[in-house]
Amino acid sequence: MEENILVTGGCGFIGSHIIDQLVKDGYFVTVIDDLSAGTNLQYIHNYIKDKKVDFYQFDIRDFEKLLKLDREYSCIIHLAAQPDVKVSVNNPRLDFEVNVDGSFNILELMRKKDIPKMIFASSGGTIYGETQQSNNENQPLKPISNYGAAKAAIEMYCSSYSSLYSMQITSIRLGNIFGPRSTHGVMYDFYRKLKKNPKELVILGDGKQTKTYLYISDTIEAFNLLLNYENKNYFDVFNVSSNETISVTEIADELTEALGLSNVSYMYTGGKRGWKGDIVFTSMDTNKIRSLGWSNKITIREGIKLYVKWLNEQKY
Ligand SMILES: NC(=O)c1ccc[n+]([C@@H]2O[C@H](COP(=O)([O-])OP(=O)(O)OC[C@H]3O[C@@H](n4cnc5c(N)ncnc54)[C@H](O)[C@@H]3O)[C@@H](O)[C@H]2O)c1
Repeated sequence: MEENILVTGGCGFIGSHIIDQLVKDGYFVTVIDDLSAGTNLQYIHNYIKDKKVDFYQFDIRDFEKLLKLDREYSCIIHLAAQPDVKVSVNNPRLDFEVNVDGSFNILELMRKKDIPKMIFASSGGTIYGETQQSNNENQPLKPISNYGAAKAAIEMYCSSYSSLYSMQITSIRLGNIFGPRSTHGVMYDFYRKLKKNPKELVILGDGKQTKTYLYISDTIEAFNLLLNYENKNYFDVFNVSSNETISVTEIADELTEALGLSNVSYMYTGGKRGWKGDIVFTSMDTNKIRSLGWSNKITIREGIKLYVKWLNEQKY
């Protein structure tokens, strides 16, 4: 019998790539997305037409609508979120309602409908808070943004729900993910700015913020591996990123080079953070997922070139 998987936030950047993989692997996919991120059906439209994907446009905060879903799901891949740290700082209640309350609804849906498995998109870049070293999964969680706090809070519910109701829940603590179809993040921002003004680039903060990034195709391989992983601990957590880091100024250098620009002057807004809640250094120990056989194949610098090629093709 065909296996059904429910993907929340499936019209977004990571979700649409996950759906490509799931459909390729023969799953039937139900997508819930309220399209609040300005996303649309462009990447899943053909699958809907071919009856490989069902799409429902509604908000995960609407529990009654969630309960009306009538298929039996073997797994939920939960990606729908308010994904912006700045928004979480300026509008903490919205962030709480979507990222905590909305995610709690997904756990309740699992409990009420006996859905045995979930993969949760958490954030390795924000959940550990400000540290000097490469964080492994046992590092204490000390988020400095409400977005990071919401991811941590839901992980704690994932732990209790998995134990109380015998669910297998895997939390993937992602680094900064980038690549085709992404329309947010520092690389996208710099690309847009440089297209507008190839002579000058405004960089938030001092440009020294240094973070870990992972290319989208490597990210999808990690999701795929963990979807098939027998999670004997019921609740388990994996850092997923590259072992590399890159500073914001180095990203600007890579982008200007990939765009064939020279003599671009960088204007720094100053201060060590780009915005309130911004973490100035993130690096993740990824030995745990690597011990299952995963490795990233694309370096950050190779990934930037591929991403810029895709952005050029979109004529942004
Ligand atoms: N992209 C990254 O670098 C990154 C890093 C760490 C964690 N994550 C997490 O991965 C997940 C996916 O990220 P993404 O980059 O694909 O984001 P995205 O914004 O591209 O996609 C998220 C999708 O969820 C939908 N959505 C938002 N709120 C919703 C709601 N209340 N109800 C239903 N749908 C809703 C949006 O319309 C969008 O299509 C998020 O949970 C994010 O926090 C992403």
